[in-house]
Amino acid sequence: MAHGHTGGDPLVLGIETSCDETGVALVRGDELLFDAVASSMDEHARYGGIIPEVASRAHLEAMVPTIRRALGEADVDLSEVDAIAVTAGPGLVGPLTIGASAAKALAIGLNKPLYGVNHVIGHAAVNQLVDGPFSGRTMALVVSGGHSSLMLVDDVATSVTELGSTLDDAAGEAFDKVGRLLGLPYPGGPHVDRLARGGDPEAIRFPRGLTAAKDQAKHAYDFSFSGLKTAVARWIEACVDAGREVPAADVAASFAAAVADVLTAKTIAACRRHDVATLVVGGGFSANSQLRELAATRCAEAGIDLRIPPIRYCTDNGAMIAALGSAVVRAGAAPSDLDFPVDSSMPMATITV
Ligand code: KG4
Ligand code: ZN
Repeated sequence: MAHGHTGGDPLVLGIETSCDETGVALVRGDELLFDAVASSMDEHARYGGIIPEVASRAHLEAMVPTIRRALGEADVDLSEVDAIAVTAGPGLVGPLTIGASAAKALAIGLNKPLYGVNHVIGHAAVNQLVDGPFSGRTMALVVSGGHSSLMLVDDVATSVTELGSTLDDAAGEAFDKVGRLLGLPYPGGPHVDRLARGGDPEAIRFPRGLTAAKDQAKHAYDFSFSGLKTAVARWIEACVDAGREVPAADVAASFAAAVADVLTAKTIAACRRHDVATLVVGGGFSANSQLRELAATRCAEAGIDLRIPPIRYCTDNGAMIAALGSAVVRAGAAPSDLDFPVDSSMPMATITV
């Protein structure tokens, strides 16, 4: 995974706690030394959603062991760390606070600079550890249970412009809700994906949100999945009311096709509009096979170089934060003040706080 000369680059420790994963990683330049992740998802699964207090407590318990594991596996002593990066937002306030507190304690204890960074931009930055530095203007589509964001990345450390985002549900969230409608376990996304693979994506024509001509002016690159979810719910209801068996695989396939269609169509239109030839996809939803397949086909047609890292770098992890921290440090950005607050709705224009 090493790229170019990284020997002289600062060693950055990254901490991620915006949701249910406690992630700690060590990165030098664009080289990942080790990425340690602990998850509290098992504790949330029975509630059908992330419980912030439960996640916060899990972060508090996992933090020091995960830092120790990352250092041990990377064979690095804490004293060798040159800078610390931590997720400052967006995310859940309690979980973010646990990570920020740990990072501030390390920064003051080690007397090393701290960089509070943007989680969603981290999902794009992590790609550089896998596929090498971005060679110029890059488009980033970050899709997960919490975000669906389309960003024009001129420089991941200094210049990111959000072109669009979801106005309501994130893509993964919509899958989880449809999973519930189909009686699948939480989180439903991967189950709906699997079910969809055995269905007909053209069986039902579900709506493509914000793709009408009237939406072009204001929402060309925004997404909306709540209408789609409602359409699926109505369709299932009508089916049940009529005493027919719900063709679950066809519903899943037709729903998944609608989501993949809108995500890829808008993203490729944005690439064309901004003359961008590289697309990075990240976030936990990029595991979705319907999205992967359609993105591959449509990017090939459009002559766009598609970069989707392995799943473990798509879901939340410390490597994404260390990667962005490393880019920010090398760009010469000012460290964050040690009294910075976390920001649950941090805007995409903010790369570091
Ligand atoms: O990034 P992530 O692990 O956590 C968040 O930041 O949300 O993303 C998890 C989300 C969940 O909504 C999950 O159901 C969805 O991504 N997901 C999928 C697939 N794998 C994960 N949705 C559809 N198809 C998948 N294969
Ligand atoms: Zn995320």
